Amino acid sequence: MKRILFSVALLLSNAFTAQTITNTQEWIRPQKIPTPVDNPITKEKIILGKKLFFDPLLSRANNIACSSCHDPVKGWSDADEVAIGDQGRKGPRNSPTILNSAYQYIYFWDGRAKSLEEQALGPIQAHVEMNLDPKEAVKKLQQNTTYQQMFQKAFPKEGITVKTLAKAIATFERTIVSGESRFDKWIAGDTSKLSDKEAKGFTTFLDKGNCTICHNGFSFSDQSFNNVGIDNGDTGRKAVKKRAFWHGAFKTPTLRNIENSAPYFHDGSVKSLEEAVTICVEGGRDKNATNKANLLVDKHLTKDEIKEIVSFLKTLSEPVPDL
Ligand code: HEC
Ligand code: HEC
Repeated sequence: MKRILFSVALLLSNAFTAQTITNTQEWIRPQKIPTPVDNPITKEKIILGKKLFFDPLLSRANNIACSSCHDPVKGWSDADEVAIGDQGRKGPRNSPTILNSAYQYIYFWDGRAKSLEEQALGPIQAHVEMNLDPKEAVKKLQQNTTYQQMFQKAFPKEGITVKTLAKAIATFERTIVSGESRFDKWIAGDTSKLSDKEAKGFTTFLDKGNCTICHNGFSFSDQSFNNVGIDNGDTGRKAVKKRAFWHGAFKTPTLRNIENSAPYFHDGSVKSLEEAVTICVEGGRDKNATNKANLLVDKHLTKDEIKEIVSFLKTLSEPVPDL
C-alpha cells in the first residue's frame, strides 16, 4: 500500500522530493540510542572508550588499534581488501564500518556476536587482528596510571577487568551514529541538499531497483543474511547456523558512508562503487552460485539509472568527525 501511494505521488508531482515519500520516518535515525541495562552511557565511559579505541596498547605488539581498521577518515572502515593485523597477517574479510553499530542486534559478516560488548573482545583476541589475550590487555592497562584513574572514574565499583574494558569500548562505539549526511538533511525537508539526479537515484533505489528488500531503514540494512554470488569459499553464515542453506550468506551491509569505505563486499574484491551497485542490480556476481538469494534478480536498469543510484549513495557520506 505504502509503495502504491508513493508511486501515485510520484506520478502526480513529477518532481521528486522527500515530501513525496509517504514514510520519511523510516529513513531517519531514531534519536534514542539502544543501550543495554547493565551498561548505561556515561560521559566517563565515552572518554575512556574513545581512548581505548584509538590505543595500540590493546594489541600484542603495541602497533594496532581498533581505529587502524575502523578509521574515522575512511568511513570508520579501512582501505584494504581484507583486514591486515598482527605481523601483517591478512584476515579473511573486509573491515565493515562501525557507524550506527549501536542500532544493530547482530554483529560480524556472519552474525556470530550478539552485542557490542561481546563483539569488542573478538578483535583484541583474534590472531589475525590484535592478537592479545584480553586478560593480558587488562594487565597492561592495570600498569598504566592514566587508565587506572580513568577506569576508576568510569567504573568506580568494578575497576579494570575484561568486562569493563568491553563495556567502555562498546559505549564509545554507541556514540558513532549517523545524521549529518546530505541525505539526512534532505529527508528532513531541506530540498536544496540533493540534486535532481541524486533524488532520482533514490527513487530508482526504492522502485525499479527494489534494493530495499534488503537495504532498508535508516542504516540501509535489514540485518538479514544473503548470498549474492560473491563466493570465495568463505562459508559465511553457515559457520554459525551449521546448515548448508547458509553457505556464502553474509549480513546485508549498511550503505551509509559507502563512498568512503571501499573496497566492497565481504572479501573486499570490488574496488568501485559503481561496480558493486551493478553487481546487485544485475542479480549477483556468480548468478549460478549455490544458494544465491532468490530475491536478488536482474533489474534490467540502464547505465544511467545505475549512475543515478551511485550518485544517490554518495549523499549518504557523513562528514569526517572532529575528534
Ligand atoms: C586488523 C583489523 C581490525 C581491527 C584491529 C579491528 N577490527 Fe573490527 N572488524 C574487522 C573486520 C575484518 C571485521 C569483520 C569480521 C567478520 O565479520 O568476521 C570487523 C568487525 C567489527 C564490528 C562489527 C561490525 C558489523 O557491522 O557487524 C565491530 C563493531 C568492530 N569490528 C569493532 C572493533 C573494535 C571495537 C576493535 C578494537 C577492539 C576492532 N574492531 C578492531 C577488522 C578489524
Ligand atoms: C537479497 C538482498 C539484497 C538486495 C535485494 C540487494 N542487496 Fe546489496 N547487498 C546484499 C548483501 C548480502 C551484500 C553483501 C554480500 C557479500 O559481501 O557477500 C550486499 C552488498 C552491497 C553493496 C556493497 C556494500 C559493502 O559495504 O561492501 C552495495 C553497494 C549494494 N549491496 C547495493 C545494492 C543496491 C544498489 C541494490 C539494489 C539494486 C541492492 N544492493 C540490492 C544484499 C542485497
